[in-house]
Parts: sequence; C-alpha cells; structure tokens
Amino acid sequence: MAHNLDKYFETVLKITKEAGKIIRQRIWDVKTVQTKSSAIDFVTEVDQQVEKFIIDDITSHFPDHKFIGEESSAEGHKITLTDDPTWIIDPIDGTMNFVHGYPNICISIGLLVNKVTEIGIIYNPVLEQLFTARKGQGAFYNDKPIHVSGKKVISEALLAMEFGSSRDPEKMRVVQENVKILYPLAHGMRSVGSAALNMANVALGGIDGYFEMGIHAWDMAAGDIIVREAGGVVIDPTGSPFDLMSGKVLCAASLELAQQLSATVKQYTPSRDN
Ligand code: IPD
Ligand code: CA
Repeated sequence: MAHNLDKYFETVLKITKEAGKIIRQRIWDVKTVQTKSSAIDFVTEVDQQVEKFIIDDITSHFPDHKFIGEESSAEGHKITLTDDPTWIIDPIDGTMNFVHGYPNICISIGLLVNKVTEIGIIYNPVLEQLFTARKGQGAFYNDKPIHVSGKKVISEALLAMEFGSSRDPEKMRVVQENVKILYPLAHGMRSVGSAALNMANVALGGIDGYFEMGIHAWDMAAGDIIVREAGGVVIDPTGSPFDLMSGKVLCAASLELAQQLSATVKQYTPSRDN
C-alpha cells in the first residue's frame, strides 16, 4: 500500500502543536501525580489527556494506523510493532520536569512504517522548540536545517546522561559509575531530564554525545531519526546496532565518538519493551 507520508507529517505536526497547548496551559498548575514503575516514575492527568488527544485525533484522520503510547502501555496495552504505520508517542517526555514546572519537557512522536522510522517530531510547547525529521530529508529546528557538531573525542565533548526514573540498585550503581568515569574526561556533563530533548540537542550540535540505559521506545523513536538525519550516529551502548525496543541508546556527533563512548561506559541491560 502506498503511504502519503507528506500528509501524515503535516497532519500530525498540526495535532502535536494543538496538544502542546494543553501542556503549555498546565505547566505551572498543580497536577494530580501518580506513580508507575517506581516511586519517582510519575504520570499526571495531563500526560494521559495529551496521549488520548493525540491518538484520538490521528485515528480520526487515519483509522488504520496503530499506536504505541507511553501511558496506554502503562495501562496495559500490549506493545506490538507490526508493518502497519505505527505512531510511537510520548505525550510528555520529562514528566518529572513537568511535575516541578521545570520547562524542559516535550511531546515526542515517531512514525514507523514496515518497522522503518519515517518521521520524527519533538516539540517543547513551553519554550517553543520544534525538532523534526523525515527519512532522507534532513533534520530541522524551528524549520531551519540542523547538523551534529562532528566532535570525535570524549576529551573535546559536552556529554549528556540521565539519572533516570528507576530505583533499581544495579541501575543506580551503573549511572554513578558512568558519571565518575566520564566527568574527568569530557569538557562537561549535562542532564536535562528528557531523553528526547537530549537526542534533539545532539542533532542540534549543542550536545556531542548522549546515552541512557533504562528508557523506552517512546523516549527514543523520534530522537533516533532526528539525530541520524542531522548526520549523527545512533547505536546500542554496547556498540551493536540500535534496537528501538531494547530500552537503551547511545547517540553521538560522529562514529568515532560513539565508539569511544561505547568502549568507555559501564553497561546495564534493562528489560525490553517487547
Ligand atoms: C523519562 C525521561 C528521562 C529519563 C527517564 C525517562 P518520562 O521519561 O526521558 O530523561 O531519564 O528514564 O523515563 O517518564 O518523563 O516520559
Ligand atoms: Ca518519556
């Protein structure tokens, strides 16, 4: 079946901007906060409302399309990736930031067709930052083309990593080890609180490398294509090919830096999404 990817992109970009209004209105309100996989893995009524808004609106335009959404998955929807057009949605990446009113949050949406990523959209409606990419058509920040920095060595890199939302002792030990290993080697270390925004910042050339072990397909689907279309590299932290369902990612401004990071960081294997 032929797919009208231009139409999918334009329609879902509009829907994303509409959904962004809900987040923008609520960012500094009091929210109802519930926990999911750990005492610091949060969901608010706004996460759920935004995901439902996006899925309902896409379905009204494209009734055959499938979805993998962070909050629907938390409610027990099975994660199955088929060859059908599948929108992988994080309604608010950076929910902890959202709960605190720290405006580094975004909607992250990737489209896979035949299991290949075709579209990536990352939108921060509070700071009005829009990152997009289409397969073979480059990556954009607020409609201007972007490119990774091209940095090749850790000793000249500004790196991002995250503390994550798990209290698993082994996971926390590996995170601490990696901070200890990398911060004396790199120019600096940053942690913005959103996997998708970290990836977007690698695409933008502001961050040279980012990795995380213990995240999900909805955190990475859009960022993966945006980084690659900006000329960057996305791999598994072990150095193997990237696997969207593996719960881990390493992306960098060059293959050299990706390989050096992969050889340097301590590894942690989270549970898979499928
Ligand atoms: C979280 C963010 C954070 C990462 C966590 C994710 P959420 O996503 O991407 O940066 O460290 O592992 O769970 O829960 O805010 O959608
Ligand atoms: Ca997320």
